[in-house]
Amino acid sequence: MSSILVLNGPNLNMLGIREPGVYGSQTLSDIETQLREAGARAGASLSFYQSNYEGALLDEIHAAYGRHDGILINPGAYTHTSIALRDGIASVGLPTVEVHLSNIHKRESFRHTSMLAPVCIGQIAGFGAYGYELGLLALLRHLQSSGR
Ligand code: DQA
Repeated sequence: MSSILVLNGPNLNMLGIREPGVYGSQTLSDIETQLREAGARAGASLSFYQSNYEGALLDEIHAAYGRHDGILINPGAYTHTSIALRDGIASVGLPTVEVHLSNIHKRESFRHTSMLAPVCIGQIAGFGAYGYELGLLALLRHLQSSGR
């Protein structure tokens, strides 16, 4: 059974309240419940962590080494700024998928660049909460095909 760490960055604890026209009306807890069910159907066990602090997210990435098989991450605004999270993912070498609720490429230009994308297997953006499930399935398929 694959073990996946699901990380959410700053302001994602505010889902449901935060700009529902952009991010939808589901809370992070709703999304985690759906994802846990999708994980169970796919035979994966999931651990969840959210923080508004870059260093706390980084510590969690480091702690995933040797404990989890892959990472699903919505880095929030750190997507566009954090060389530290990018280097952290590269450090542990765990297959990682980047997820965004909104389509960052059709929003403000400062959202078009992801610091993390070059160290991720791929990126899913624009499908709302369903993107987490898509990302999880893509990550599990990758792990399976790479024999991990
Ligand atoms: C986001 C997109 C980011 O640009 C933004 O800062 C977020 C959420 C998304 O899920 O669409 O906090 O990662």
